[in-house]
Parts: sequence; C-alpha cells; structure tokens
Amino acid sequence: MNSAFTASPFVGKTFGVTVSRLHKSFGRATVLTDINLDVKPGEIFCIMGPSGSGKSVLLKHIAGLETATSGEVRIGEFDAADPETRNKIHLALVFQAGALFSSLSVYDNLALYPREHRQGNEAGIRERVMHALSILSLEKAVHKFPSDLSGGMKKRVAIARALVMEPQLLLYDEPTSELDPVMSATLTEIIATLREQTAVTSIVVTHDRDLAFNIADRLAFVMDGRIRGLGLPADFKSPADPVIANFLNPVIDLKNPRFKQLENHHE
Ligand SMILES: Nc1ncnc2c1ncn2[C@@H]1O[C@H](COP(=O)(O)OP(=O)(O)OP(=O)(O)O)[C@@H](O)[C@H]1O
Ligand SMILES: [Mg+2]
Repeated sequence: MNSAFTASPFVGKTFGVTVSRLHKSFGRATVLTDINLDVKPGEIFCIMGPSGSGKSVLLKHIAGLETATSGEVRIGEFDAADPETRNKIHLALVFQAGALFSSLSVYDNLALYPREHRQGNEAGIRERVMHALSILSLEKAVHKFPSDLSGGMKKRVAIARALVMEPQLLLYDEPTSELDPVMSATLTEIIATLREQTAVTSIVVTHDRDLAFNIADRLAFVMDGRIRGLGLPADFKSPADPVIANFLNPVIDLKNPRFKQLENHHE
C-alpha cells in the first residue's frame, strides 16, 4: 500500500442509502422486484449475485442514472432520482467498463471533475490527480489515452478518477474484474483503507468472493431481481439457502474426463 495514502485528502461527510420498494421494468421485462435495502453511513456494503440478476441496474438507480418504475432510492435525505442531488453530494460511480473519455488523456480524465466543479487551482488539482494515480500505480500512464491502456489499466484509471472526486458516496461496479490477482488484492485494500480513513459509504457490486468476504460489513445477494439474502459475511460462510450456497461454492464434477486430472489435486 502506498504510504502517501495515509495522508489522504479524501475526507468529507458521507451518506447512507435507503432503497424502498424499488421495482424496475424495461418494457415488459421486470428486472428488479421489491428491493429494500438500508445501507448505513460509513458502511461497506457488497452486492453479489449471478450475471444478469439486476445488480448494475440497482447500482444505477442509486447513482440516479435510472428511473424507478416504482419505489424510491434516498441518499441521506436526498432523492437519488432528482438531478439536483448530484450537485449537492459528491457521488462517484466506478462503472463496470470504466467509462473513460476516449479523447482525453488519463490526466485530463482525472482532472475533469475538479476543474468543472472549480475545486481549487490547477496546482492543487494536479497534486490530487498525481496522488490518486500513485495509489493505483499508474504514474507512468498519466499522458496516455484510454485507447493505449489495457482493460485492467482502464479500470484502475476509473477508480483513480473516483478518488479524485473526493466522494461522499462511492459506488463500484465490479471493481476487480479484469484485474490480475495482485492488483485485485491491492484494490480490495484500497477500498477498505479509503473507508477507514474517510468513513465513506461504499457500495460494491462484485463477483469476487475474496473482495466481498474480506471487506464487506454486510452482504446482499440479488437473484432474479430480488434480494435473496442479506447479512454479515459470517452468515454466508456456510449458507443455509442452497441457491446461495451453490452460487458461492459451485459444485464442479472434478471427474469430468474433459478436465485435466491434476495429480495431487484435492489430496
Ligand atoms: N437499459 C436496459 N434496457 C433493457 N434491459 C436492460 C437494460 N439494462 C439492463 N437490462 C436488463 O436487465 C437485466 C439485469 O442487467 P444487469 O446489467 O443489472 O445485470 P448484472 O446483475 O449487473 O449482471 P453482470 O453480473 O453480468 O454484470 C438483464 O437482463 C439486462 O438485459
Ligand atoms: Mg453488471
């Protein structure tokens, strides 16, 4: 972990998130059904669940990027669907695919938000940008453009950009997908350290069990657009619900002749 991180400037007020009776349909397809969640201020809340179960759509409602069919999302006292809310609080969403501006260099991608929101002079912005890049070991990429970066580097730039925003609510969509195991572990540490130092509420959608079980205060499982389970990580060490148990520890037939039968495997 980068020691400069200890002197993090990313300090501020944070907000809890309440999702109440949220339903979402796209045309005739129902994607979310009666979602109720109460994420406390300062909590790291992980959302897991199969592909296509509605996790990203849920996160977009929290970020104010989707409109509910019914129900509501509140960030502190603010309505997440109200466009004004984004002007009142610093909300950072790390998208599943990074979502960088392709015409801007890495530096300008990171500097965009503080410049637009007139957060300090260019020297101060530069310091914040370089600090965030150093946390994610991206100093050498500062003048590159997104098209010159690998998938994992783009993901790290997107995370660095979120840090520069001095967020009061951090939403991550699959932050460790596309990262190698070392960078995944670093990122897990960054999310936990950032919360410890700034008490920022962090909602993390992830398939990464190591990430979720290492840092979540609480976990929710979304399946078929519904909350199937909610509790402490310890509650899911050996889940009573067979569907969640199979999701976390899928049964694989190791005797499948097409699999390489590794010697000493499962001794
Ligand atoms: N804008 C949209 N219009 C129509 N359908 C959509 C839209 N966005 C998402 N969906 C549908 O909603 C469902 C849930 O999608 P979502 O992206 O939330 O899944 P997910 O749980 O994030 O999956 P993954 O783990 O693969 O990222 C999918 O069936 C998807 O096709
Ligand atoms: Mg998704």
